[in-house]
This record gives sequence, structure tokens and C-alpha cells, in this order.
Amino acid sequence: MSGSAADLVWVPEASAIAREAGARLREFFAHGVETEYKGDVDLVTVADRTVEKLIRTRLAEAFPEHGVYGEVGTRERMEGEFRWYVDPLDGTTNFAHGFPQFSVSLGLEQRPAGIAPGQDGRIVAAVIYDPMRDELYAAERGRGAQVNGKPMRVSRIEELAESLIATGFPSRKRHDSPNVHFYHEFTLRSHGVRRAGSAALDLAYVASGRLEAFWEFNLNPWDTAAGFLLVEEAGGRVTDFAGGPFQLNSREVLASNGLIHAELVGLFQEMFAGRNLAPIPTPREFAERRAARAAG
Ligand code: IPD
Ligand code: CA
Repeated sequence: MSGSAADLVWVPEASAIAREAGARLREFFAHGVETEYKGDVDLVTVADRTVEKLIRTRLAEAFPEHGVYGEVGTRERMEGEFRWYVDPLDGTTNFAHGFPQFSVSLGLEQRPAGIAPGQDGRIVAAVIYDPMRDELYAAERGRGAQVNGKPMRVSRIEELAESLIATGFPSRKRHDSPNVHFYHEFTLRSHGVRRAGSAALDLAYVASGRLEAFWEFNLNPWDTAAGFLLVEEAGGRVTDFAGGPFQLNSREVLASNGLIHAELVGLFQEMFAGRNLAPIPTPREFAERRAARAAG
């Protein structure tokens, strides 16, 4: 990050809030929580609710004028110039199963006066905290990105064939998602596709160079606001699947180290047009071949 951490406007307070929130998550995680259903396989727990309330309270203390838009339903001061997108627990399914991959995500949007309600302002600050690894990712616009206070950059890998990438799958209307086709195709064309279960951390991993790219359909602003800025400030690119500008409500996110971005956008175009797909055997074809082999 260019300039010292003391020069940053929002990150120091937001980092302290994310760390406190993460500490609460660690306590809940240690004791275990009951799973409740918001719908289909969309889970929520007492940890999501308690930690969103904590973050909402702390943000109001630190930045009394700022709005808060949280996954668990907080909508406060929505008409102001600044708005925090809050995911108190990104990776609730992992958390509820005792799988230690989840995060706190705080992204700050600056909205000029008169902007239409559905239009994006500028994301100006981001903090994502992984409480299990004690890793805190942070950025402010124009000031670079850092992990635990050290500057971070996206990776230098130039080809999808040499990349490790990630995706996620929706927890609602799962039958409507075509993503398994993309998962399959990108798996065959890369070192592998991870589905770790926290979109915010997936984006932080692109920013820190652990992953070359991440994509997902149908994410919400609280999943992507902070990660979007981290990737951009770490030197990467974030767009929709056609390579157009990323929007908080566009329901498409494609983030990369920038170097493999054009290749990924090209593949999305080919796949949406139904071209260039690598065939794999159906389970039945595979079973028939296996049976034929066994028969000698
Ligand atoms: C989920 C995670 C997951 C993604 C899902 C999100 P939540 O958020 O980010 O990685 O695949 O689409 O809903 O519900 O755990 O906060
Ligand atoms: Ca989330």
C-alpha cells in the first residue's frame, strides 16, 4: 500500500471492527451453532445475526453518518453519501458444518448526491477478515491493497492452462444455474477449480495471488463489494462475464489477475454460444465402457 496505514481514512476503524467480529465468530465456531434455513439450502445461524448486529453498532459508533446494508437484513441510513456493504459471515454453510473457511466482509461505497437508487457509486474502502487464519485483507481506492499490513499483488501467471481458479454455486434456485458446465470446462483447461465456500475470501485470494481467477453467478453486493476493490487495488480486473464493467447488482462477477482476463472472457463467450465445449462421457456411457472392460 502506498503511504502508511496511518494515512488511511476508513481501513483502520473497519479493520478493528472486522477483527472484533471475527473473534465473535471464532467463539461461536468453537461451541457450534444450530442451522436454520432461509430457503432451499440457504442457511443462517445465530452467529450471522449476532455479528451483523455487532458490526452495525460499531459502524454507527465509528461513522455515525454512514449507511449500512447487511446480508441479515440491516438497511440503515440508505440515503447518505457513504454505505457499508456488510457480510458478517461469508461462508455460513461451511461455518455451520464446522468447515473452517469463512470471513467477515466490509465494503464501503461512496454515492454522489442525486445518484439513482439502483446505480453504483464508487467502492472506496474494503476489509475482509479470515478469523481462522488471522488474515486481514484491506484496501482504499488509489492506495493499493495489503494483507496483514504488507502490500499484496495479483499473480503473474499468463495462461489459464497454468492457473488455479475458483467458483461458487448459488444456494437458491440451484436448478436454474448453468454453472456446473463452466466448472467442468474450466477444470479441464486449468490446474483446477476450487469451491471453497466464501466468495469474499475467493476474491481476496485473487488479490493476494493465491488464485488467478474467480467467477460466480448471482452473488449479492455484500459478497462482492469489498473483494472487488481488493482485486482492483492489487492490480487485477473485475468485470461481468462479457468483459463489461462490474456492477454490484449485475449478478455476474469475473475477477482475475488481469493477465488471463481476455482468455476467460473469450471462453465465456464461446460457451454461451454453445461452441468449443470438451465432451465428457455421460455416467451411463462410462458404466457401459466399464462393464465392457470387465467382460474382457
Ligand atoms: C455464500 C458464499 C459462497 C457462495 C454463495 C454465497 P453466505 O455466502 O459466498 O461461497 O458460493 O453463493 O451465498 O450465504 O455464506 O454468506
Ligand atoms: Ca455471503
